[in-house]
Amino acid sequence: MVKLIGKKKKFCAVFISGRGSNLKSIYYYSKKKYSKINLKLVISNNLNIKGVKFANKNKINTKVINYYNKNRAEKKILYYLAKYKIELICLAGFMKVLSKNFIKKFNKTIINIHPSLLPKYKGLNTHERVIQNKEKYSGCTVHIVNEKLDSGKTILQKRIKILKSDNPNKLAKKILKLENQLYPRAINKILSKI
Ligand code: GRF
Repeated sequence: MVKLIGKKKKFCAVFISGRGSNLKSIYYYSKKKYSKINLKLVISNNLNIKGVKFANKNKINTKVINYYNKNRAEKKILYYLAKYKIELICLAGFMKVLSKNFIKKFNKTIINIHPSLLPKYKGLNTHERVIQNKEKYSGCTVHIVNEKLDSGKTILQKRIKILKSDNPNKLAKKILKLENQLYPRAINKILSKI
């Protein structure tokens, strides 16, 4: 376990669009003494979601961004990132694809969690496709975000065996549990390097 004696925690933003279970696990991690982040900001493109309720309840600065115009939405987000001096973005179920321009302008680290063993099964409906293809294993990946969807360098990956009794729903539940454990570990790992 790395202790951050004398070192400042990195200011972090989590981007969400829904349930927010990964946001929760990142939040609880941020409260630990050994954590390397200070969770300063939550960005959401939806108002009435569990994740936003959780953020409000826990008094995290939360900005709900109207994505009607993507360009304008991203400009607004960049404004808040600068305002809160954000040094790390964690995408956690954020359903909007960040533009190349946004990634270039933020100019610091952005990471994402994806519910498959990348580079396999990029994109949506991963569990359905994994079951349909009779894969033996699935899992989740935390990776660096680059301009290509679900394609940046892997930080950490966790694998589980698929059982005969699994269906997409069951698998999604099992993998979500793994995701919630993996994300804080991946943050810790990446922040040892930057
Ligand atoms: C997770 O399965 C994540 O891998 C994917 O979207 C889902 C978000 O879940 N990108 P939650 O909102 O963090 O519970």
